[in-house]
Formats: sequence, structure tokens, C-alpha cells
Amino acid sequence: MIRSRTSDDLDSCAAIAAQVHDVDGYPSFLGDDTFLSFVGPRDALGAWVATSDDTVVGQVVLRPRSAPGSVTLAARELGMEPEQLGFVARLLVAPTARRRGVARRLLAHVVDEAHDQHLHAVLDVVTRDVAAIALYDATGWRRLGGHSIALRSGASLELLVFSEP
Ligand SMILES: CC(C)(COP(=O)(O)OP(=O)(O)OC[C@H]1O[C@@H](n2cnc3c(N)ncnc32)[C@H](O)[C@@H]1OP(=O)(O)O)[C@@H](O)C(=O)NCCC(=O)NCCS
Repeated sequence: MIRSRTSDDLDSCAAIAAQVHDVDGYPSFLGDDTFLSFVGPRDALGAWVATSDDTVVGQVVLRPRSAPGSVTLAARELGMEPEQLGFVARLLVAPTARRRGVARRLLAHVVDEAHDQHLHAVLDVVTRDVAAIALYDATGWRRLGGHSIALRSGASLELLVFSEP
């Protein structure tokens, strides 16, 4: 089941984020975030959880922006203003609940929610997150292009930007 996230769900979501970080190395860069602030960014336009037997097994967030390069690329490729875009973010599924269609359902739901807010859903993903890229390809998301961002450490992150199916 997919439902709106409540404040009571945040600890469960942060615990999933910690597991995902251990197992998948996502996110590769947490910056100043804790797992709690990572799952619940202040600028969220909405957040939803997937549950199984009343246990939270996944989550997704909709945000008004992402990395500036992703916003510019998506707006340019889609011929839209940045304000027309809704960025799907913080998609996480507990390692024990994978390959059962949880992410597929969360993605379909967040796209509907974006449309309710008159937004076109887009997302960016780090190229090393191969499971996520396989998911977006399998669910019909369209590749708009790629760019890279420089980290404070001197390393760089390669990102792909996708549009809703
Ligand atoms: C990516 C992620 C959200 C997928 O969650 P999930 O619930 O297991 O995905 P689903 O079961 O809905 O998968 C739907 C389809 O996507 C593809 N897919 C999903 N995970 C895949 C993987 N690890 N390898 C290859 N294809 C995969 C498959 O086509 C799958 O259909 P199938 O199982 O019938 O073959 C999950 O692995 C995860 O939380 N990863 C770490 C966090 C992350 O990368 N988040 C996204 C950041 S942008």
C-alpha cells in the first residue's frame, strides 16, 4: 500500500536510509545531512511511503528542485520553466523488500501526485546507482541527458536526468 508519509514514519524511513547506505552506498554523498534530514528535506512538496503488513518498506519524496545542472538540463530538454518541474527524490526501498514492485508503485504514485500539483515529474540519478537506472529504464522513464557536478573533495559525480514516462 502507498500512503502519505506522517511524522510518525520518519524514524522508520531514516532506519531504511541507514540500511540502504550500508548495502548500496546510496547516497554516495550525504553532505551535512543526517539520515533523518536526508529522508525528510525541508523543501519537500510531498512524501509517500510504501507499507507491507503496516511496516514501512519504502519511501519517495517530491521536491521543487535538485542539482542546478539537472534543473537546467531538464527544463531545456523539455522546453519547460523550472517551476513546472517536480523532482522525484529520496526513493528508497528496504533491502529485504526488493524486487516485489515496491519502487514501481512508489514511482507511479509520485508521478500522479506531481500531476495533481501541475508538475512534470523528472529525476536525476548518479550513474553508479545501477539498480535505480535499471528501474527507470524498465518503467519507461526517458533519458534527457547527463552532466557532472564537482564535489568539495575534488571528486566529481556523473548524473543522468530522466523524464516521467
Ligand atoms: C532502486 C530501488 C529503489 C529499486 O527498488 P525495488 O522495489 O526493488 O524495485 P522494483 O521491484 O519496483 O523493480 C521494478 C523493475 O525495475 C528493475 N530493477 C529494479 N531493481 C533492479 C536491479 N537491482 N537490477 C536490475 N533491474 C532492477 C527490474 O526491471 C524490476 O522488475 P522485475 O523485478 O520484474 O525484473 C532499490 O534497489 C533501492 O532502494 N536502491 C538503493 C537506493 C537508490 O538507488 N535509490 C534511487 C536513487 S536515484
